[in-house]
Formats: sequence, C-alpha cells, structure tokens
Amino acid sequence: MSKNLKTVPDNVIEYQNKEYWEERYSKLESHETFDWFNKTYKELKPLFDIYLPDKNVSILMLGCGNSTLSEDMYDVGYHHITNVDFSETVIENMRFRCKDRTEMSWIVMDVRDLTFQDETFDAVIDKGDVWNPKPEIVENVKKVVDEVVRVLKFDGKVLNHFSNLEIVLEHKNGKIR
Ligand SMILES: C[S@@+](CC[C@H](N)C(=O)[O-])C[C@H]1O[C@@H](n2cnc3c(N)ncnc32)[C@H](O)[C@@H]1O
Repeated sequence: MSKNLKTVPDNVIEYQNKEYWEERYSKLESHETFDWFNKTYKELKPLFDIYLPDKNVSILMLGCGNSTLSEDMYDVGYHHITNVDFSETVIENMRFRCKDRTEMSWIVMDVRDLTFQDETFDAVIDKGDVWNPKPEIVENVKKVVDEVVRVLKFDGKVLNHFSNLEIVLEHKNGKIR
C-alpha cells in the first residue's frame, strides 16, 4: 500500500462509491497488490480444501480489487475464475498483471447488477468486500445477495470472507443456507 494512501475513508459509506475506489486505485502503481485483512490464499487454503476440493469448478470473484487471491488460486489449479470489480483501473491493471494466466477473465461489472445468466457459477467468493450493515446500505446488500443467488448453480456454494468471519452458504433446493 502506498504511503500517501489512507486505508480507511473518513466515512465508511464511501466504500460503496465507485469514485472512491477509482481514486484509490489510480494512486497506486499498476503492479501493486493489496490483500484486505491480510488474508491471502495461504490463509484461506484450508477453507478452499474443504469447500472447493475440485479445482475445475467455475468461480466468480466479487470485488476482486488488486488482491493476489485469484492468481494464487490459478497457480494451484483453479483456472476457471471470473473476476469482477466496478473499478476500470483495477480491472485493467489486474488483467495486465495476469496476462499469462490466460483462462482467467477480468470484467468491469457492478456486483449489484451482474450480467451473467442464471446458475452460471459453481462457487462465488466474496473476500474482503466491505459491506457495512448500516440501514442505508442494506438495500444494496440485498441486491448483491439476490444477484448471487440468481447466478449460482443449484448445489453451488458462496464463500464469503470478512475480517474474522467466514460464511459458507450452499444453494440447495432453491434456498441458501
Ligand atoms: C475492500 S476491497 C476488497 C478487494 C479484494 N477482494 C481483497 O480481498 O483484497 C473491495 C473491492 O470491491 C470493489 N467494489 C465495491 N463495491 C463494488 C460494486 N458494487 N461492484 C463491483 N465492485 C465493487 C472495490 O472496487 C474494491 O476493489
């Protein structure tokens, strides 16, 4: 993380603003990476070993940012990863950084409005995406959850990682548990 970059904005509500993230990423060197909550593939591997033992699964990475998670997962065999983020800057930088990992894709997309078909993915990973549960953004959270449920395959899984909380949801019988 660059020295002149504030990690936390004055108001956490800024985390949902595309402009905030664009400005933040535009101040970084294009090759820089940062993993929120210091959680990298190494720390999350035990979770993936349990819930994603088959490396051929199709994975949607929400709000990928400039985390090393996707490239590290790719390098151990998870090749079918679709990374989305609403920052054009970070997607362009990460696409270039990972240009040799040819089966992985990088798409500018708002997670509140995913353009994928219903039941596209075997698993959805939300690592470090900041969703502050204040009443005014609950509606946004609901939109994301609704979209995730819609694009997740029957029997698919959602792996959600916050600072100290790991949530694994399974899509069974039309319900998320
Ligand atoms: C806290 S960072 C987490 C980045 C990365 N997943 C990690 O764990 O290091 C949140 C990321 O989500 C992206 N983001 C926030 N809201 C989004 C939205 N509505 N649609 C797409 N991306 C979003 C931001 O641009 C940022 O890259």
